[in-house]
Amino acid sequence: MSSIEDPRVSAIQVRLRDVKEIVVFAGSKGGVGKTLISVLTSLSLSRRGFKVGFFDMDITNPTAHLPLGVDTKSVRPAEEKGVVPPEVSGVVFMSPIFFTFDKPAPLRGEYVSSAIRELLSITRWVGVDILVVDMPPGISDEILELLTYIKKFRAMLVTTPSQMAVKSSVKLAEVLGNKLEAAVLNMVTEGSSEVEILLNSTLRVPVYTVPYDSEIESALGSPRRLLTTRAALEVDRQLVSHIVRLLRI
Ligand SMILES: Nc1ncnc2c1ncn2[C@@H]1O[C@H](COP(=O)(O)OP(=O)(O)OP(=O)(O)O)[C@@H](O)[C@H]1O
Ligand SMILES: [Mg+2]
Repeated sequence: MSSIEDPRVSAIQVRLRDVKEIVVFAGSKGGVGKTLISVLTSLSLSRRGFKVGFFDMDITNPTAHLPLGVDTKSVRPAEEKGVVPPEVSGVVFMSPIFFTFDKPAPLRGEYVSSAIRELLSITRWVGVDILVVDMPPGISDEILELLTYIKKFRAMLVTTPSQMAVKSSVKLAEVLGNKLEAAVLNMVTEGSSEVEILLNSTLRVPVYTVPYDSEIESALGSPRRLLTTRAALEVDRQLVSHIVRLLRI
């Protein structure tokens, strides 16, 4: 079924109608910190008083519930003229994990697209001003889906300072085109200013830096502790300040 005929596409537009901003965290490489940075961003926006939604779009390997410490057996979406996601530490949280129950979900491309459409067309983002989306790695079906029918999103490109990650990020940036809002250089240890300058001059968007923070691992699962880490402070100071400016325009 093509996206033109699929009735879920217009249902999604209705579901997202009142959301003011959709900010998507994407990255060409796996393990660069898309999930962690998107979770920290949501928690920080919520603490600043915004009504935040979070959508884990990593259909085959969702992990955002882990840093948020969601017990998927006791915390569940509710059915009410659609599906109302639970609120977790102030974040309205929707993930495929609620439906796969931690079983592996090896799906082919077209089924991944269909699962995304299904979830977005049933989810009610009641009162949500800003929706944060955590993407799987790569230039995937998910990115192409977004570009096709969620017209109003902005993308944050997450990469590490590694040459391999940076070079492939530039390719993803080309695909994202004018949807690219900023880049995040994550897990910075030292001496990354050259990479920062290079990324900034190549992509022509602000580049924010988040340090490698050894406190993160033990804080996973505890949103309160995550918010006290150095990484979270930098996410709040740089990235979240940027997003708040978008919301105030
Ligand atoms: N700034 C940081 N300091 C320390 N650890 C970090 C930092 N950013 C991410 N990590 C850790 O690195 C690992 C990978 O992060 P994460 O899962 O967020 O990456 P990802 O890009 O979402 O991966 P995937 O591509 O598999 O979805 C996690 O264990 C996470 O806790
Ligand atoms: Mg991830």
